Amino acid sequence: MNYQATNRKSWNQLADSGSQFARVATDEECSRPLRVLDGRGWLPESVVGMDVLCLASGGGWQSILYAVAGANVTVVDISDSMLELDRREAHRRGLKVETLRASMDDLRELTSRSFDIVHQPVSSCYIPDLVPLYAEIARVLRDDGVYISQHKQPTSLQISHRNERHQFVIGVEYYHRGPLPRQIDKSYREPGATEYLHRLEDLIGGLCRSNMILEDVREPVRADYNANVNHFGYRGRFIPPYIRLKARREKRPPNEATTTTTKIWTP
Ligand SMILES: C[S@@+](CC[C@H](N)C(=O)[O-])C[C@H]1O[C@@H](n2cnc3c(N)ncnc32)[C@H](O)[C@@H]1O
Repeated sequence: MNYQATNRKSWNQLADSGSQFARVATDEECSRPLRVLDGRGWLPESVVGMDVLCLASGGGWQSILYAVAGANVTVVDISDSMLELDRREAHRRGLKVETLRASMDDLRELTSRSFDIVHQPVSSCYIPDLVPLYAEIARVLRDDGVYISQHKQPTSLQISHRNERHQFVIGVEYYHRGPLPRQIDKSYREPGATEYLHRLEDLIGGLCRSNMILEDVREPVRADYNANVNHFGYRGRFIPPYIRLKARREKRPPNEATTTTTKIWTP
């Protein structure tokens, strides 16, 4: 099975078994959707009427919050079960949300320059190469469009195991290529998924090399000093799990074609 098929299966199972990442937005969250989506002021004050792509973002959380906030929402995800949560929750709340099953690195079904915002939660670890991903995002964003993303930090993915003192062992090389060794510890990896380590030069530099301008970088704090050793909050005391990036699509030159949908990459 290739990475798409493996990760579809894995995320179908995670969604069907009620994973914490397959959690739809609550009524309380829907009462203040933009604040919940973005505590840093990265989003505009209003997204009413904006076209938003929730990328690799099935599960009925981001899509529902953007839709409640008045945006026109499209969700792309590889997992049917995750997308079913978006559809079911949108229907229950009387919201309109478009869903598309596709891989984030091949968005050929989406028109160029059709989104004001692309919002991507942690998911780039499920594809082997960020170049086609960033190229697709730059293609579907309008000029000055915002790209908000969160990624697993490479160091976090380098953990191979814990020793007898519950210390995290960095046993995967920084320059590791190909799928990461399987991991059974659920406190920092999803069981069954095929994941890849992306170096900072690819995560951050790759963005800058894809016609996008980096505007901010954050490292969300996930340290929990009351958490037991098997909780991800314990790992967060030692290793920052995520990096969050805000970027903006560069303006295209005035003479650049506006209507073509280019297929950028062939898997
Ligand atoms: C951590 S979940 C993110 C969704 C969740 N709503 C959240 O708030 O974190 C990662 C998502 O990436 C999706 N995914 C994995 N590989 C993908 C791919 N190649 N293309 C698109 N989505 C993918 C999974 O199905 C899953 O829904």
